[in-house]
Amino acid sequence: MSLKTQFLLDPNVIFLNHGSFGATPQPVFESYKHWQYRLEKQPVKFIGREIHSYLKNARQKLGEYLHIQPDDLVFIPNATFGVNILARSIKLKEGDEILTSDHEYGACENAWIFSCRKTGASLVRQPISLPITSFAQIVEQFWQGVTPRTKVIYISHITSPTALCMPVSEICKRARAAGIITIIDGAHAPGQMNIDLEDLGADFYVGNCHKWMLGAKGAGFLYASKEMQKIVEPLVVSWGWGDNSPYTTGSDFLDNLEWWGTKDPAAYLSIPAAIHFQEEHDWPSVRRECNQILRETLRRISELTGIPPIYPDANGYYYQMATAPLPAIDNLIEFKTQLYAQYQVEVPCLEWNEDPYIRISIQAYNSLEDINILLDALEQMLPNYQL
Ligand SMILES: Cc1ncc(COP(=O)(O)O)c(C=O)c1O
Repeated sequence: MSLKTQFLLDPNVIFLNHGSFGATPQPVFESYKHWQYRLEKQPVKFIGREIHSYLKNARQKLGEYLHIQPDDLVFIPNATFGVNILARSIKLKEGDEILTSDHEYGACENAWIFSCRKTGASLVRQPISLPITSFAQIVEQFWQGVTPRTKVIYISHITSPTALCMPVSEICKRARAAGIITIIDGAHAPGQMNIDLEDLGADFYVGNCHKWMLGAKGAGFLYASKEMQKIVEPLVVSWGWGDNSPYTTGSDFLDNLEWWGTKDPAAYLSIPAAIHFQEEHDWPSVRRECNQILRETLRRISELTGIPPIYPDANGYYYQMATAPLPAIDNLIEFKTQLYAQYQVEVPCLEWNEDPYIRISIQAYNSLEDINILLDALEQMLPNYQL
């Protein structure tokens, strides 16, 4: 499978952290640079007259990829930006609750805490305990956090610390019946798994193209269902807002959010190249092979540590990224630093609910050899650090 030569990554590094910031293949990076050159050749023509049709074309391609109409999504720089737009747009009041899980990403939680402090609403972190036994267990545990005050559900599609794929479709279905707004944080999902946003049934979905879709850095999107688009406000008020706009798409949702001052749109415009790269390289097979390597990695780590995996032995709980529990470790930061310093293994070691974990990402450029090096490193280092 290995498509390593297609990527710009340092060949001396065992790169097992695609999850943090992604990695872009050469042809996608070329497309990104191509758009930057075109802009610089005639900035006024490009930004002043042509950009909207280029953006429309890129939205069309991304819409097809996500199975939604292109006008229901807008480009944003990243998932954090999207959560901020929503946390400011939704009119919270004292006593309202935003229900989330205890597996969420800190920066996005901050966006909610910020809005809660201003409004008197509160963020409720519902525990989802490990090990996971079934999707039904997740839904039932999560739903115990719903109260008559729950106004919004904000939950990751694939969680950051635990790489767990949440049953978001079922949660959205229940929420719709209960009149609760749903916001799904898909920072990690597009690219790792097929996404059909129409079918998923969320009110809002924020996603990244620069992680698992292989896009250039600074490419994300915000989807809003047709009926919810009217409540979305611009985070930055610019030319797109109001009656004196020099250009309009005919959609306030797009106009308010797509243009907010001069910026480099090359990451958005190279998304079609990222989708094309996946098509050219039979991405369903790449994902399957990555998942098999990951499954084997979890098995070997579990054999080494004697600690069972956090997921059931079944499909759909993780895709190309998975988290394995580690034994209690003296100084996890130092442990991670040494993994890189001694073995050139780039992999996140993290604490979640006070327990240590290692989160492994497998992408098209990885091979079993990378895993052998990781396992050798763990085998040698763990006895020195284990408490
Ligand atoms: C679940 C989740 N949401 C949001 C983000 C933030 O992504 P970005 O920095 O691209 O906004 C991350 C980053 O890893 C994440 O894991």
